[in-house]
Amino acid sequence: MSKQQEQRGEHTSMKMTMRLGPRSYDIILKRGSLGRLGQLADLMNRRVLVVTDDGVPAQWPDAVLAQCTRGYKLVLPAGEATKCFSQLEKICRTLLENGFTRADAVVAVGGGVVGDLAGFAAAVYMRGIAFINCPTTTLSQVDSSIGGKTAIDLAGAKNAVGAFHQPELVVIDPDTLSTLPPRHFANGLAEAVKAGLLGDEKLFALFEEGDAAGHIEEILTRALAVKKAVVEQDERDTGARACLNFGHTLGHAVESASDMGLLHGECVGLGMLPMITDKTLRRRAAAVLKDLGLPVKVRYDGAAVQGFLAHDKKLGSGDKLTVVRVAEAGSYYLEQLPLEAVQAMVGSGIG
Ligand SMILES: NC(=O)c1ccc[n+]([C@@H]2O[C@H](COP(=O)([O-])OP(=O)(O)OC[C@H]3O[C@@H](n4cnc5c(N)ncnc54)[C@H](O)[C@@H]3O)[C@@H](O)[C@H]2O)c1
Repeated sequence: MSKQQEQRGEHTSMKMTMRLGPRSYDIILKRGSLGRLGQLADLMNRRVLVVTDDGVPAQWPDAVLAQCTRGYKLVLPAGEATKCFSQLEKICRTLLENGFTRADAVVAVGGGVVGDLAGFAAAVYMRGIAFINCPTTTLSQVDSSIGGKTAIDLAGAKNAVGAFHQPELVVIDPDTLSTLPPRHFANGLAEAVKAGLLGDEKLFALFEEGDAAGHIEEILTRALAVKKAVVEQDERDTGARACLNFGHTLGHAVESASDMGLLHGECVGLGMLPMITDKTLRRRAAAVLKDLGLPVKVRYDGAAVQGFLAHDKKLGSGDKLTVVRVAEAGSYYLEQLPLEAVQAMVGSGIG
């Protein structure tokens, strides 16, 4: 996107490049781009396995499949449980049985579950083959499709087994969101609100205007730009990428310790609120989340959430947790807090 386009507020299509040296790739956002993927990537001169799940309307993976000369499609069961060894094996077997080599490619068409799993299969099959990510949920379009993190879960531990495997290309078609259930649409936007609070005041202001669906391209573009800048500084998550955990420390504890059936983005939204140090901004952020249809009040078993925090994998020596705090929209700071201080924020609910 050019500076002039940005100033004019034009975000109908966008191309940015994730600059990671030899692992650099383009991120393309354009309505209808799934149906034109063959113009953006080679689907003719190699085998292509399109991986999707049975919650994704067939029209989206089939739009890609129709452009492949040697295309195969694998439809997995929808849901987090699919991020497991047996489904990973299924993908790898399909690749092997159909003669895929390192000259071929895997294309994910779906949400974060499909992207994480298919990306991991592409990372390990024959020690790594090309991966193209076509995310179809707001969560995967603003967050999980870029950054190269791929993984499956193990024994209840999320993303316990995985690899960094950068895609060859990310193609985001906002048209795919037309079939996404409203709850999932809002769920992913919590990560975009997070991006605004962390690094783009204008993005946060855009949410305050309301009508997120009407501004979806600009929201996706701005949120992606925030994450891209962070990933470029810290590809393998050893430093700067920690800021992306804003809202995740408490959010993850609430998500894991409660059985309220809340989605990930919903918990991240809730988890951000106590980490905003300025009262007025906290109220504004709560109003934005509420307007999106995301929960802003929740009651839970405080002891269970506190117990989960005590097992947070980010707990450093001396029982301190590094949390991400925001005092004004568009900037953040890291704070090391004793575990008890974070536990004290938990109480018996948020909001
Ligand atoms: N790799 C990363 O950096 C990263 C970051 C954040 C989250 N994640 C992972 O992302 C996953 C969550 O992703 P998600 O929220 O996209 O969930 P998801 O992939 O489970 O998708 C949610 C539901 O929407 C359906 N769906 C997908 N696209 C659709 C469409 N266009 N129309 C109708 N239905 C559609 C799916 O079938 C599924 O039922 C988690 O496993 C999480 O760990 C990864």
